[in-house]
Amino acid sequence: MSGSEGVTGSSGTAWSDRFEQGLHPVIERFNASIEFDIALLQQDLDGSVAHARMLGRCGLISKAESTQLIDGLEAVRREATAGDFKPGLEAEDVHFAVERRLIELLGPLGKKLHTGRSRNDQVGTDLRLWLRQHIDGIDVLLRRFQRALFRHAEAHLDTLIPGYTHLQRAQPLSLAHHLLAYVEMAERDRMRLVDVRHRVNLCPLGAAALAGTPLPIDRRQTAADLGFEGIYANSLDAVSDRDFTVEFSAAASLVMAHLSRLAEEVIFWASEEFAFIRLTDRCATGSSLMPQKKNPDVPELVRGKTGRVFGHLQGLLTMIKGLPLAYNKDFQEDKEALFDVVSTTEACLEAMAILFEEGLSFRPERLNTAVASDFSNATDVADYLVSREVPFREAYQLVGRLVKTCLQEGILLRDLPLPRWQELHPAFDDDIFAAIAPRQVVAARCSEGGTGFDQVRSQLQRWQPVLMSSQ
Ligand code: ARG
Repeated sequence: MSGSEGVTGSSGTAWSDRFEQGLHPVIERFNASIEFDIALLQQDLDGSVAHARMLGRCGLISKAESTQLIDGLEAVRREATAGDFKPGLEAEDVHFAVERRLIELLGPLGKKLHTGRSRNDQVGTDLRLWLRQHIDGIDVLLRRFQRALFRHAEAHLDTLIPGYTHLQRAQPLSLAHHLLAYVEMAERDRMRLVDVRHRVNLCPLGAAALAGTPLPIDRRQTAADLGFEGIYANSLDAVSDRDFTVEFSAAASLVMAHLSRLAEEVIFWASEEFAFIRLTDRCATGSSLMPQKKNPDVPELVRGKTGRVFGHLQGLLTMIKGLPLAYNKDFQEDKEALFDVVSTTEACLEAMAILFEEGLSFRPERLNTAVASDFSNATDVADYLVSREVPFREAYQLVGRLVKTCLQEGILLRDLPLPRWQELHPAFDDDIFAAIAPRQVVAARCSEGGTGFDQVRSQLQRWQPVLMSSQ
């Protein structure tokens, strides 16, 4: 008996009549993926529509049957949109759930849909269609994030910020230069995703279970119909390749690493010790106990969630490493990992974009005074001597001595009167004071890609049409 009402064999499961008993209820739950792979419903329907169309064109079913299958699949889509499609655990996964419902709606004709395909090539197709769409969404979010940074950069070409190495004051920077560094990182993130997308965008459909099919299907037709750039050349590879989930998660991990580095900076910039930014009420939270507090929860969560994404990358790699060809049920584990990588990355990108759009403002008065109260102009004193033909290493030693003296006396370089400079080296003149003023220190760094205002201005001009033209 193979009931015409569903994909149900004599055991009451979805399996063939070789099975006599139903699954243990605990194992049924353990085995099922419907609770999470229902997220692939639209893609499963799209893939099935393309498959049904191809079956009709290739003469494997009649044109009328093909049309009826497609109409039936669209009816399932409408039910889902109306909230009336709620498959339970017995459906096992989204692929069986759709097929079951189709058979309920169409009767025996519905049983023709699975001709020449397997859930193995089907799930690979669904997952790629789903990921492709999300890669495109992440690209839009990366652009929004870049734009949010760019707006601050544009406004703060002339604002100075201490530049650090080893988190020690190193040399002053234009704040725009600092922010544009993150715009560049996000651009590399975009390029990586563009590259990964080509490998996501290959169609495994028609590889069937693992070896292809004797039926005269046309793989290129379904691939083109679904907007894939090409098809897998090897049917075994087609059903067992999950490289694309790893590659994508690696690219997403770098997005998260970049967001997390920026998040870390925002957190300390917001501290009273730095006070380089003010958090607005839109993105900051209070303490339940300490009424004076305003906490940077958004960047903290971004920093925290980064670990999740890195963890999934490791999980996916480990899941794959021992698997023989071809399909293994282990692959079912790729979905929750991939879904979480995607939703976490999307949520963090959006939150960081909003944080920069309306959640913080820079404090130029604090930033500009910060750079005037340290020794981050010491290299410029050495450069000054170099321009007066003192060998760099000698100049470096002399300035080291100067800094030591100032530290002992509790003063800054600019507080030293000219005779004391000249005691150290006769090449010093009173233009030394202009040369070590922070603004001049920044302006002087005009090597290509440096923080000199002219350089940064040209970078702003380069980004302006890229980021703001469609705005
Ligand atoms: N739910 C399965 C998965 O996510 C679909 C493919 C099942 N294939 C099979 N031969 N059991 O991977």
